[in-house]
Amino acid sequence: MNLKGLRVSGRRLQSALEEMARIGATAGGGVQRLALADEDKKARDLFVDWLQALKLEIAVDEMGNIFGTRPGAQKALPPVMSGSHIDSQPRGGRFDGILGVMGTLEVLRTLEENNISTARPIAIVAWTSEEGCRFTPAMLGSGVWTGALDRDWVYNRTDLSGRRFEDELIRIGYKGTAPCKKKPVHCYYEYHIEQGPVLEREAKTIGVPRGITGLHWYDIYLEGEANQAGPTPMAGRRDALVTAAEMILKVNELPQRMGGKLVATVGEIQNYPNSRNIIPAKVHFTVDIRSWDDQHAIKAWDLLRNDFEDIAASRGCPINIEETWRVAHAPFDEKRVQLITDCVASLGYSYLPMVSGAGHDASYMSRVCPTAMIFVPSIGGRSHVEVENTRMEDCAAGANVLLHAIVRSANEI
Ligand code: GLV
Ligand code: MN
Ligand code: MN
Repeated sequence: MNLKGLRVSGRRLQSALEEMARIGATAGGGVQRLALADEDKKARDLFVDWLQALKLEIAVDEMGNIFGTRPGAQKALPPVMSGSHIDSQPRGGRFDGILGVMGTLEVLRTLEENNISTARPIAIVAWTSEEGCRFTPAMLGSGVWTGALDRDWVYNRTDLSGRRFEDELIRIGYKGTAPCKKKPVHCYYEYHIEQGPVLEREAKTIGVPRGITGLHWYDIYLEGEANQAGPTPMAGRRDALVTAAEMILKVNELPQRMGGKLVATVGEIQNYPNSRNIIPAKVHFTVDIRSWDDQHAIKAWDLLRNDFEDIAASRGCPINIEETWRVAHAPFDEKRVQLITDCVASLGYSYLPMVSGAGHDASYMSRVCPTAMIFVPSIGGRSHVEVENTRMEDCAAGANVLLHAIVRSANEI
């Protein structure tokens, strides 16, 4: 078989994506497969069936990460690993995460169909709970596997209804027995949608990120005083929601105030008791700050934290701040980034070097092995929404880049 002419089947990839998109399909055309929910289990079961059909060696670890290994001619060599995640955002899209898992599966199917063996084993992986929306923070499976997060700390994380991570993992039958611990990996690739507007705007097919921006997550808890909305005069109120509102505007103004590349978002809020005629007694909200420059993000946070404390004091609402999660910016391995670029060039696709503003399991993986990613355009730059979409030709193009990157790397000895 002439390896140069090897291509994935775009049609088969499309049908795998479509079958996955039926699990947790939403009325608005997206999917909702929250981590460790029933839909996550169903999608995992289907994924494992597909791994079995390829006769891969399957392992599920104690964090529910699923690995399928295709042996290499030299079994003892560390594998080339590739994958992403199966879980989604609430009313999320049909591509985020699952494209990287189905893209890798399509690579393995292509190799099998063409009887192509490689020197090194190839391992496909589906990491548990990447999104960080049901259980926080994000990238929990890869976080524990790489040693960045403590397994028992993650087991005790709870969702909004108080369900424990470990209990949910057991409930869906995916608390495996293999230790969740890093093993030698030759290199790690993650294929993903861009989730932003740049590739479409620049009319490029493939994005080659040189790394991932730093992510900083905070949880803010405010205490007010509940009271009747009618008889209680405006003066002297301790309204937790108004206090939060003033703080949220500060978050939105932060990037402009700081200058430099930074984004800041409040995406989640809970208001208690959440009744139209009770002055809010308690509010929890989240802050997400991202920058390639870790120190810049920390400086921004220090400024914001001072503002929060001043606002809380002036409105009489005690504040409790949790610095939930910080992941430093993750530069990828230059040689691996170059190899991806070479594969794109030899396949004749247009491409753009870039930086990933979204978090990925590749961020933690880059700490333990040479890592790189492949992006394809998001239509309209929309992601984490039901209308998230990517052209099927682009999905196939990205999978071809992944195919060639994996085969080349798996023949490096
Ligand atoms: C992961 O989905 C992120 O928040 O970037
Ligand atoms: Mn993702
Ligand atoms: Mn996501």
